[in-house]
Amino acid sequence: MVTPATPALDVSEGLGFGPLETVFEALGRALIVLDAEFRIIRASHTLDEIAGKGIVESVIGKPIEELVGAKLFGPTDTLREALTGGRREEGRRAVLRCGAMSARLVSLTAAVVPLHVSNHCDPRARYLVVVRPAEDEDSLLQSMIASHGLVARSPAMLKIVHLVESLHRSNATVLITGESGTGKEVIARALHSSSLQSSGPFVAVNCGALPADLLESELFGHVKGAFTGAVRDRIGRFELARGGTIFLDEVGDIPLHLQVKLLRVLQERQFERVGESRTRPMEARIIAATNQDLHGAIQMGRFRDDLYYRLRVVPIHIPPLRERPEDIALIAQHQLAHIGGRAGRALLLSPDTLEALKTHPWPGNVRELENALEYAVALCTGQTIQIEDLPEEIRAGGAGAEPPRPAAPASAPVRAADAAVDPERAQIVEALESVHWNRQKAAEALRLSRSTLWRRMRDLGIE
Ligand SMILES: Nc1ncnc2c1ncn2[C@@H]1O[C@H](COP(=O)(O)OP(=O)(O)OP(=O)(O)O)[C@@H](O)[C@H]1O
Ligand SMILES: [Mg+2]
Repeated sequence: MVTPATPALDVSEGLGFGPLETVFEALGRALIVLDAEFRIIRASHTLDEIAGKGIVESVIGKPIEELVGAKLFGPTDTLREALTGGRREEGRRAVLRCGAMSARLVSLTAAVVPLHVSNHCDPRARYLVVVRPAEDEDSLLQSMIASHGLVARSPAMLKIVHLVESLHRSNATVLITGESGTGKEVIARALHSSSLQSSGPFVAVNCGALPADLLESELFGHVKGAFTGAVRDRIGRFELARGGTIFLDEVGDIPLHLQVKLLRVLQERQFERVGESRTRPMEARIIAATNQDLHGAIQMGRFRDDLYYRLRVVPIHIPPLRERPEDIALIAQHQLAHIGGRAGRALLLSPDTLEALKTHPWPGNVRELENALEYAVALCTGQTIQIEDLPEEIRAGGAGAEPPRPAAPASAPVRAADAAVDPERAQIVEALESVHWNRQKAAEALRLSRSTLWRRMRDLGIE
């Protein structure tokens, strides 16, 4: 008689998953057991060590996506599909949610519970997930700070960091959205410098800063005589970015007729200089960014939907700072070390200064935070920044601070009846008044490009 081969990982009858958990715990890994509906029915104590005390207790009975996010375990995702199809998945990165305030990058291995194991264990057990901390989490974050000046702690930003890292072999077009000052350019530069084209140039074009005809020749170049003033041939930004990345900032400001040309560049990867019929290849990776609501712009006929879909092959949305307060202290400390370093000073934040920073709504996002710290460092005479050193609107600790600026300043239609009480109008008029109607200075103060300001003034009927 042939004796059946002993399974390598036998779980003795009656002992359930206990011994298995102990083995994984000894290896610093957490074992999670799921039922057929992907609900967590068991999790070993190591999960508390990885994700924080109390996590095990809080996740029992919950769907696994509450712990690792819907991206990996959502109803249509490949990890769920792989498991239902009986396949094992190894080394999948995930951001573990550790309560509301933090997150941790981990590596997951998931498999179906083998039949001979399930016969002896909790009959509900269907899938196993082994979690280990991604050992390079710290070094990944360190390198993001060191190479790109990118500081992140919130789950949302960790996801973005992770995405940037996983795109390092990709040439895909990326559309970065987010309010002004959230770090769109930082992310664009990080994408470039961690990409295969990092040795090539990073060429940024502010599409909102130039009138349409200048923008066209800026992007595509022109030949001598193409228009009045074109006294010699000129290379455009697409050519300059060859072998590297072209960053189309404020892409929502591109006028419609140029959007058609840009669409063609994206589709056919070629273009012509203005005034020339020769076709040239486009050999740059495209990253675009906008603080506008492009959906709204499409609805209003100001942005082509086909271009939108071509641009957002990989969409990255950076949430405003007020939605990721966990990042505030870290960015502030990093920035303080930076500013202090320039002046040879080691600076600290007093507890109430930190509290005020954490509760301010930051309508100008990270840029506003940086400016506030510059201001505070300039005022502070000692080593510790006191609350009195902060700009007045921040000192209030959030109370009475100006409301956050809408995410899409340039796309909201303004009805005539609303104009008198429109906060944006009031904000623009106030900014203009404070600089004696110097549009350049007002644009700077409002953190808008001059042409965007001009358009908003026109749309809002500001003379
Ligand atoms: N996560 C971050 N860590 C550290 N610094 C950051 C971070 N995000 C943004 N910053 C800093 O904040 C400032 C604004 O960032 P950036 O210019 O990338 O924003 P933006 O979204 O492009 O703004 P705008 O829409 O106004 O162009 C920069 O000085 C940048 O270095
Ligand atoms: Mg920018």
